[in-house]
Amino acid sequence: MQIFLDTAEVESIRKYAAWGVIDGVTTNPSLIARSGRVFEDVIAEICGIVEGPISAEVTALDTAGMLEQAAPLAAIAPNVIIKVPLTPEGLRATQVLTGGGTKVNVTLCFSATQALLAAKAGATYVSPFVGRLDDRGECGMDLIEQILQVYSHYGDFRTQVLVASVRSADHVRQAGLLGADVCTVPPKILDEMIQHDLTDSGLAAFLKDWESARKA
Ligand code: E4P
Repeated sequence: MQIFLDTAEVESIRKYAAWGVIDGVTTNPSLIARSGRVFEDVIAEICGIVEGPISAEVTALDTAGMLEQAAPLAAIAPNVIIKVPLTPEGLRATQVLTGGGTKVNVTLCFSATQALLAAKAGATYVSPFVGRLDDRGECGMDLIEQILQVYSHYGDFRTQVLVASVRSADHVRQAGLLGADVCTVPPKILDEMIQHDLTDSGLAAFLKDWESARKA
């Protein structure tokens, strides 16, 4: 499973990219707004840090507007992925962009039927939002299971399932168990993923024994 970092904070991306386990980055308009920086500058800087796919989301609601916004974003670097919403206009933009060789991440997916449409439009990625479903009492991971099952029946579907809106390390564990292609993870969840008290206490014990042996 690929791990993307779900943030527009460049310093954070630098920090976690150094771990050597980050395959790409996802951003959205809220994350870009939170960074307080110019959209294109942030995307360009991220592309200079991580070689893998970097999602940059359009904000236009009509297909022509999406395509207009996509062109300069895609020109920033070859690894930019254009993110479009799961709407009729977004599906049409997906068809046009993928037809022209630009990769697309179809976002804001909340059902298996939406994911089916994203695949038919030729999306490179579909982003089901598990956390937002959990937030309202549904089971986000059930949706991942359904989408993977639907896609598994059709060999011509190339769309990768990108688990988004991740709220816990357990979401990542479940995504891996289900065989999702990608999981995009906020930095604080990456910290949660690596943490284990037995690793900490085990390391402390090893170092203590090592120092005792050297003094003996
Ligand atoms: C990433 O592509 C999504 O935009 C992001 O994971 C959404 O997360 P949220 O539901 O925590 O805002």
